[in-house]
Amino acid sequence: MLGRVLERLIDAQSRWAKPLGEWLHGLMAAIFGRMLPIRDFLAGTWLGHPLHALLTDVPIGALTLVIVLDVVGQPVAADVALLVGVVTMIASALAGYADYSTTDGRARVRATVHSSLMLVSLVIYVVSLAIRATGPTSRTLPIALSIVAYLILAAGAFVGGDVVYALGNMVDRHAWRPAGAKWQSLDVGEIAEGTLVKAKAGTQALVLIRSGDTIQALHDLCAHAGGPLSEGTIVMGCVECPWHGSRFEIATGLRRRGPTVYDQPAYEVRAVAAGGYEVRRIS
Ligand code: FES
Repeated sequence: MLGRVLERLIDAQSRWAKPLGEWLHGLMAAIFGRMLPIRDFLAGTWLGHPLHALLTDVPIGALTLVIVLDVVGQPVAADVALLVGVVTMIASALAGYADYSTTDGRARVRATVHSSLMLVSLVIYVVSLAIRATGPTSRTLPIALSIVAYLILAAGAFVGGDVVYALGNMVDRHAWRPAGAKWQSLDVGEIAEGTLVKAKAGTQALVLIRSGDTIQALHDLCAHAGGPLSEGTIVMGCVECPWHGSRFEIATGLRRRGPTVYDQPAYEVRAVAAGGYEVRRIS
């Protein structure tokens, strides 16, 4: 019940978040589109894990500590924790904006609400930090500002969690796909050399690539956000996704370029004596 009310409240923000999101997404896509290695680094392609999710734990921990230290009367420690919180919040925001540059639809609207709340919270924290740095006779105002900022931070974290857990943004699209050594027959027509050919193996959609007598296959659904790899292009031994440009090695499914932080399921293909082909997952 409460969850539904909160969800409606968040969705009601789309009136301002949608146009703002379109503008902000255009800006971030233009910035990160010019520096893909930096975008991929911030996304966590090198790590195989979304960097933003990892970084957000640090400021939330430090900024929770600020409240505790302020309450127990440890001003110096509280100010240091606040400084750590602000610096790591900025680092976390950079990683978040790298992810934001490839969001779409409802996830983008909610990510806009999330980033707006975090930005307001960050500004209030910076003001609190600046006042603390002047050595004020009374710490009431900066402490009050920190508490307000923390409440906004908590609301922002709630919405950010929704972007991942409710809408599946930056979640591996193959997380629940079973591995397995079982051969399955392949439903496919002609497999022309050097082109991406869509095929079916049971309920699985695959993309096939022939090179001479060798046929290799990847799952068709991009691990990043579900783009159709069969509509992509072949680039330097990889399939490039048509949606955001992630590249996966044809032979292994290993990610070679982000924004994906996950590898793509790869399949072995064999011809059967009776005609046709079979596939089985290899990674
Ligand atoms: S869906 Fe985003 S790169 Fe494929």
